[in-house]
Amino acid sequence: MPIKPKLRPFPSHFAWGFAAAAPQIEGAAYTDGKGPSVWDTFARIPGKVANGDTLDVACDHYHRYPEDLAMMAALGAKHYRLSIAWPRIFSRGHGEVNQKGIDFYNRLIDKALELGLTPWVTMYHWDTPQGIEDDFGGWRNRDTVKAFGVYADTIVKAFGDRVKHWITLNEIICFTRMSYGTGQRGPGLMLPEQVVNQTYHHAMMAHGEGVRAVRQHGGPGARVGLTDCSEAFIPLSETPADIEAARRVFVHENGRVLEPMYTGRYAPEFLASLGADAPHMEPGDLELISQATDFLGLNVYRGRFVRAGADGKPEILPFPPNYPAADAEWLTHTPQSIYWAPRMAAEIYGVESIAITENGAGYNDLPPVNGEVLDLHRRDYLRNYLRELQRAIDDGVPVDAYFLWSFMDNFEWADGYQRRFGVVYTNYETQERTPKASAKWYSQVMAANAIV
Ligand code: NOJ
Repeated sequence: MPIKPKLRPFPSHFAWGFAAAAPQIEGAAYTDGKGPSVWDTFARIPGKVANGDTLDVACDHYHRYPEDLAMMAALGAKHYRLSIAWPRIFSRGHGEVNQKGIDFYNRLIDKALELGLTPWVTMYHWDTPQGIEDDFGGWRNRDTVKAFGVYADTIVKAFGDRVKHWITLNEIICFTRMSYGTGQRGPGLMLPEQVVNQTYHHAMMAHGEGVRAVRQHGGPGARVGLTDCSEAFIPLSETPADIEAARRVFVHENGRVLEPMYTGRYAPEFLASLGADAPHMEPGDLELISQATDFLGLNVYRGRFVRAGADGKPEILPFPPNYPAADAEWLTHTPQSIYWAPRMAAEIYGVESIAITENGAGYNDLPPVNGEVLDLHRRDYLRNYLRELQRAIDDGVPVDAYFLWSFMDNFEWADGYQRRFGVVYTNYETQERTPKASAKWYSQVMAANAIV
């Protein structure tokens, strides 16, 4: 019997692209008036980043962006999610604008557009200016929200004639809880729970300032959203009881971010569960936080399985030690996460437009052999996730964009340079870039608008 394999296309308007972030690729950490960020400082504390790696040079994208963008375009991407480094625009995070920083992003944005890459710009990807930390106490203080508002106004005014897709903040948990609670990320503090909850609240307010700036200065056609890393909860079986259990966990876990953003309040049970550690709020805060947005960005890497427990309570299942994971051990192979995270955001909060602003896999890839990096592990990981994304879209989940994390290997925060998320291999000694097998495959996917 002849078998005729079918291409299953994504919707015709679907946006394909790559994602990256300034502190992880740019390098030039002290060039042209850029001030240090909390990560430049944190990386210098012995033991905080694997192998003592710093962000000083990274992929030297600050100088090599024309070639990097040309390679992205040659691979067939039409969209590029980049971030602006706050300490390049204001060396201390506030005060005088650093014109050389503005000039750099003008060159970068113009080059992207010239190559047919639509920029999606993240205002903040964890690189808080050290001046903001020193002068105000960083996300602990409301003054940081004000400074962020001025920064947002400045960049939207400067680039808003060409940038029409804005993302206010990236993954709030990573610069609040992990930065001021568990100490794993810059500035690396371990403070009481009330302070951590306060940093979340201030981050949500900064998101509101970003939305306000885009509405005021973004010009016609400007869209704005937040990128979150909502934990995905996967019902163990797709039965009503397990789906309901997963949904309850999702709502609870999103009490600090999606809940106030979409409902204009912190759920009373959630605030009650925080008790005396609840954030201090002032009149107007929740209005700022819950202004309407145009899309939700979701970074999806992994999920946890949930079932309805015997007592009717949701039960989050532990992973057995032999469950498959990437070299980044937190990254369990759970393709259904990219089905359930957007579905729940759409069903629970009525989100009408979702962009997968990151998805990818971190491995300690070996260097090229005869010019080739056969990262079949990453290629398969991506393929399985895209299949589940396609299932979500077929079921009516409104996902209209996908950004692969990441274009090239880069500074993977506390894991340094050994942990590679790129589909392009970076040789950090020579700065040579080599597209891996996964890049060639992703290029075919983008060209076909279908999984190949
Ligand atoms: C999410 C973060 O936004 C990005 O900076 C990081 O490199 C990836 N996850 C992989 O861990």
